Amino acid sequence: MNLSPHILILAAGQGKRMKSELPKVLHEVLFQPMIHHVLDLAFAIPHSSVSVVIGHGGNEVKKSCERYSNVQFFEQKEQRGTADAVKAGQGFLENQTGHVLVLSGDVILLRKKSVEKLLNLHESEKAACSLVTTLLNNPTGYGRILRNEKCQVVGIREEADSSDQEKKITEINAGIYCFEIGALFNSLSKISNQNRQGEFYLTDVIELLVQQNAKVIGVPFEDSEETLGINDRIALAEAEKVLQKRVNRFHMENGVTLQGADNIWIDTKTEIASDVTIESGVRIRKSKIASHCRIEANSRIERSSLHMGAKIRQGTVIDESTMGEKTTVGPYAHLRPGSQLGCDVKIGNFVEVKKSTFKDGAKASHLSYIGDAEIGKEVNLGCGFITCNYDGVTKHKTVIEDGVFVGSDSQMVAPVTLGARSYVASGTTVTKSTPPESLVIGRVKQVTKPGYAKKFLKKT
Ligand code: UD1
Ligand code: CA
Repeated sequence: MNLSPHILILAAGQGKRMKSELPKVLHEVLFQPMIHHVLDLAFAIPHSSVSVVIGHGGNEVKKSCERYSNVQFFEQKEQRGTADAVKAGQGFLENQTGHVLVLSGDVILLRKKSVEKLLNLHESEKAACSLVTTLLNNPTGYGRILRNEKCQVVGIREEADSSDQEKKITEINAGIYCFEIGALFNSLSKISNQNRQGEFYLTDVIELLVQQNAKVIGVPFEDSEETLGINDRIALAEAEKVLQKRVNRFHMENGVTLQGADNIWIDTKTEIASDVTIESGVRIRKSKIASHCRIEANSRIERSSLHMGAKIRQGTVIDESTMGEKTTVGPYAHLRPGSQLGCDVKIGNFVEVKKSTFKDGAKASHLSYIGDAEIGKEVNLGCGFITCNYDGVTKHKTVIEDGVFVGSDSQMVAPVTLGARSYVASGTTVTKSTPPESLVIGRVKQVTKPGYAKKFLKKT
């Protein structure tokens, strides 16, 4: 393919049918705003430039796209229709040569290879305009493709303006077009808004081009799922289901076991190696999972990296953290951002870890909070261990060196350091740092009075 078009994404509309304060293209599908899916596609195909037309909630949309460099934004001040939206890019595009691929911010399921098919045909047919069509059992809401007796595309009729006869047409306009730049802007200037919606329709360009004997071709896509336009929350859910299936299928083909795949949600950015098992109800975003990991039911993993054989037990949340080889976390544990666990680490039930490192073989098996801490090799933190890391103003650091044993129900009032191989007796509140191999006990001496319980009970 030689064609390397300018790409223009229309994303200025409010999306009234979403009934939302959020601009439509910022609604998420598989944890990612719609506009990002379209930008990912745009950058995956050969292009000369990528631009987005913004308008409703324009600043928010622009901000959300910050991570994509080399995107131009054109503002459409008033949302007067799709033709008017394209006009927002006219100043730039008119001075370019070649072709423009128009994508829609709410059509997010297009496959790269399908768009390449459109571009290839556009090029080989030397068309002025090529547009994607598809057949739908229920075409309601979409523009209908008008063809003449020779089966050539001669126009598009919007639902609102169509006759009862036209409403029966099941071939629809997907809103995805490739135009020769000169032909596009020549026709665009002639479009009026004399229609039921009082809008400037980009679809009217087709009829104008045909009248000028310019070549217009319809490129039918067999898989109508690809052309789904997300106008309301029902289509949003439908699109998410389609994308979920695609992503899950991809991982299963690569040797990942998904137990209850219908209820496992993995974003398009996550990488998973073979022989990983994932149970039902799991959600994973922007993460990397090495082989032989196991992720039990209803866990959530975001922006994290799991090394080989790591195990996440049921109901666990892992956020912006790393788990070393054969490390286990959960059930019902929480790794908050900045937690880095080495190999063979064990974090058990109801343990919260924040911005802390655990070296190889360290353990916190039950009911603990570990924040802003460095935990050495083979350290054992007993049940109910707490780092008191926050004095109300500043966060302080706890350092527990290699081989320390901390008895249950102990607290570390940070900043504090426990020297290597020290032993902390149960129930100790550690307030002072200790040299290596110390025994630390800090609890009230026990008083035992034999027989007193009986006396006490009698009295009361
Ligand atoms: C549009 C097509 C319709 C097609 C359908 C496919 C027109 C007139 N109709 O209808 O033939 O079947 O897509 O999904 O083009 N937008 C702007 N500025 C505006 C209006 C819209 O940027 O002033 C953007 C929207 O943000 C959206 C895209 O253009 O991303 C399409 O607009 P939308 O209102 O969803 O058009 P449809 O009614 O779906
Ligand atoms: Ca739409």
